[in-house]
Amino acid sequence: MSQDRLKRDAAHAALEWVEHDSIIGVGTGSTVEAFISALAESRRQVEGAVSSSEATSKRLREIGIRVLDLNHTGDIDVYIDGADEFDPHRRLIKGGGGALTREKIVAEAARTFVCMVDESKRVGVLGAFPLPVEVIPMARSLVARKLVGLGGRPEWREGLTTDNGNLVIDVHQLDLVDPVTMERALNDIPGVVCNGLFAIRPANIVLCAAPGGVDTIR
Ligand code: A5P
Repeated sequence: MSQDRLKRDAAHAALEWVEHDSIIGVGTGSTVEAFISALAESRRQVEGAVSSSEATSKRLREIGIRVLDLNHTGDIDVYIDGADEFDPHRRLIKGGGGALTREKIVAEAARTFVCMVDESKRVGVLGAFPLPVEVIPMARSLVARKLVGLGGRPEWREGLTTDNGNLVIDVHQLDLVDPVTMERALNDIPGVVCNGLFAIRPANIVLCAAPGGVDTIR
């Protein structure tokens, strides 16, 4: 079964978490695109959505969903997004699409974070996928040196400017056996806006699609 098919299966399963007339948070990426298409095809009406990227906002508007400002909505019921990796504790690496900062903000505002993945994203310990770190442009080299000090191999994702006007460094070979401690250590580096570890606030539900069906991991 193709990975696209599995993404669509996970996206369809996520529809169950969308309450009629609610305000939802929506992430970024190809699985989220499948979710937005599934939402459009379904009869489910939502009051509006808080979006995690300009790309997602555009897609939401195309299907007639109002994009709302998080400053006006307050906390939201559910946040729906994909991930690059997840571990048995529902901790994640995100940011492969570069939208990690807004994704983490919307996830933090949500009572329930539902993460849609296909089984290729399952790992025992996070870290095979390089960890995205969003940085203020003037701090790029400084942050890269600090990342080397933490044991990582930083690689600037050249050509990418985030929706917030910043840069992304992908960090290879970081030891993420204790992802909560690493998430905090990365947050402490001046110039780091956000990092792609979602360990302090993990997903509440992971919907993991495999050829045999969609597993709900709580
Ligand atoms: C976007 O910045 C990411 O956090 C995505 O959620 C992640 O990269 C998963 O993307 P796909 O759904 O495209 O695999």
